[in-house]
Amino acid sequence: MTGGFLESLQDECGGSIPFDRFMEAALYHPDFGYYTKRIRTVGARGDFSTWPGIDSSLARSVAAWLKQSRRRHVIEIGAGTGRLADAVLDRLGYVRRWRTTYHIVEVSPVLREEQKNLLRGRKVVWHEDLAEALDASGGEADIFSNELPDAFPCRVFVQSAGSWMELALRIEGNSAREVLVPAELPASSALQADLPEGSRVEVHESYRQWMEKWAPHWKAGRMLTVDYGSPMPGLYHRRPAGTLRAYSHHQRLQGPDVYAAFGHRDITADVNFTDLQVWGETLGWLTGFRGNLASFLEGQSSTLPEALRGAGEAFHVLCQSLQPKESA
Ligand SMILES: C[S@@+](CC[C@H](N)C(=O)[O-])C[C@H]1O[C@@H](n2cnc3c(N)ncnc32)[C@H](O)[C@@H]1O
Repeated sequence: MTGGFLESLQDECGGSIPFDRFMEAALYHPDFGYYTKRIRTVGARGDFSTWPGIDSSLARSVAAWLKQSRRRHVIEIGAGTGRLADAVLDRLGYVRRWRTTYHIVEVSPVLREEQKNLLRGRKVVWHEDLAEALDASGGEADIFSNELPDAFPCRVFVQSAGSWMELALRIEGNSAREVLVPAELPASSALQADLPEGSRVEVHESYRQWMEKWAPHWKAGRMLTVDYGSPMPGLYHRRPAGTLRAYSHHQRLQGPDVYAAFGHRDITADVNFTDLQVWGETLGWLTGFRGNLASFLEGQSSTLPEALRGAGEAFHVLCQSLQPKESA
């Protein structure tokens, strides 16, 4: 029960709820949010599975990537069940593990508990936000995430009569009707692309705002971002309806189903890696490796099982850093 919450949000937003505000509440509202309250776990017993539950190649290559620097602080953002952290720590080796402090930034209280159970006895410190984790690391840390930006609220835009309109929702009883409203456009490569009339694109503007918030706390290090998505212009190639979707019991739901069962479903969209790169460069970060997961793994002397090759191509990797010698 949302107890009229969506109606009040709609009033607050001036008559309709911009999609990113809806998604933010559906995933992160302290009382009704999917990640804050409803998620059971990630994997076979949850609503969706992620790479670390399927294959160990990512853990192997993240550990190899971490070993390329001598930094003592590692920060994982959004650690899910903690399985990737566990596997990465195993593969760091005794000496490196001993001298490393592994920080996890996790917003979901449910998943944080699961991580604490799995990682009991490990040298891991949990934080509420990345700025706090960076301060605890003296600002010098290697940072990584798997399937994080896709879980950030996104704005949705629709190409209509030669201009972009923003998707918002009008709440009517138990259902949500799509409306298009004029809006100030964020900086995004998707909105500069030449796409056919009616095309829909997603912009993870909340991720850019999040980057800007903690960036002043980061003094040295590298950041590795792995997620499904790709750079422009490939992202919307043959996908005029965009990439927004929800997951419930491993079922992929699209269209109006994304707005149903508020707070009970994961909602996600593919990540525009051109935006992540450009937004980082605007903050003065250097761009290192960018490419699909299969090629990143090869670069770290790891390979994907043949059955996962297609999935490895749907995942993209971006490495950003603050110092030129670390940008590879
Ligand atoms: C799709 S899950 C991926 C989990 C895990 N990385 C994996 O690969 O299994 C997204 C994760 O990011 C967390 N998350 C979402 N927004 C976050 C934020 N702003 N800061 C930290 N964690 C966040 C979620 O609670 C969840 O653990």
